[in-house]
Amino acid sequence: MILLKHYGTKNITFSNGNPDMGKRVKKAIFPVAGLGTRFLPATKALSKEMFPVVDKPLIQYALEEAKEAGIEEYIFVTGRSKSTLQDHFGRSYELEKILIDNNKSELVEEIKSWVPDPSQISYVRQQKALGLGHAVWCARNNIGDEPFAVLLADDLVLSNPGCLAQMMEVYAEVKGNVVAIEEVLMEKVNRYGVLDIESEDGVVVKAKGLVEKPNPEVAPSNLSIIGRYILQPDVFRKLDNQEKGAGNEVQLTDAIAETLNDIPFHGFKFAGKRFDCGSRLGYLEANLAYALERPSMKDDILTIINKYS
Ligand code: UTP
Repeated sequence: MILLKHYGTKNITFSNGNPDMGKRVKKAIFPVAGLGTRFLPATKALSKEMFPVVDKPLIQYALEEAKEAGIEEYIFVTGRSKSTLQDHFGRSYELEKILIDNNKSELVEEIKSWVPDPSQISYVRQQKALGLGHAVWCARNNIGDEPFAVLLADDLVLSNPGCLAQMMEVYAEVKGNVVAIEEVLMEKVNRYGVLDIESEDGVVVKAKGLVEKPNPEVAPSNLSIIGRYILQPDVFRKLDNQEKGAGNEVQLTDAIAETLNDIPFHGFKFAGKRFDCGSRLGYLEANLAYALERPSMKDDILTIINKYS
């Protein structure tokens, strides 16, 4: 029996008592090297993780979510267009000087408040977009032999506390590998990694299997993985094989599935709303939802929505 602070008491059987599998998570990988073909032409020269939702790039939301969850080191796996992202998380002395000269020093302080210390950030290049599993594998030397988080910034989660902070609370209890999950329509399961459920206890689901992009007729459930993972380093050993799966890509879910016999694996039904910002509709909806969250914008946004409805 475990007690989750935000989600009540749950009966969970630990499948492995190895204390190493519950080590504190201090590092996070942010893969940003995807081609973003669903969002061309916008993604031709700009990675979608740099798209703003209202006024903040997706990648900054992800970094802030990680920081709130206790992450201390941020590892970006970048592709061909990394310079804007690197500029975003670096200091801009020219901009700061102009703002100060224009009596806007409060904006300088605001920017400084979220730019991480250089010692906390590193960049790894994925030379070719061979799949999410390959992108994560590219960061293996930066992670070493400790558990880590993976955040896909194009999955934006509106929640308080943030999705990863919620997952950390569950991870502290169940250990091993933990992924955030949500229910999707059965006809859409072929877009996601889907859990094969062993037992379900409220918001925490113990899985005995994991299938990437199954056909709805053979899908083991409609519980799909979203872009938040807490993983043990053992997954790198599986990714070493570089085996290609669905879509002819190296799939992270396939490597996690290979560790199922040795490492407990749980899905967590997070509290919050996820937006698929890798798709046009998901991205537009996120902009509306986040603008409506801002008291200074809400009334104007509702007026605009009424105008077009
Ligand atoms: P997606 O499945 O959304 O793929 O990647 P994509 O290539 O970015 O976009 P589409 O489907 O062509 O429109 C999920 C996450 O994994 C990263 C992406 O940047 C995104 O954060 N990714 C994917 C990589 O870093 N490298 C890859 O080779 C593939």
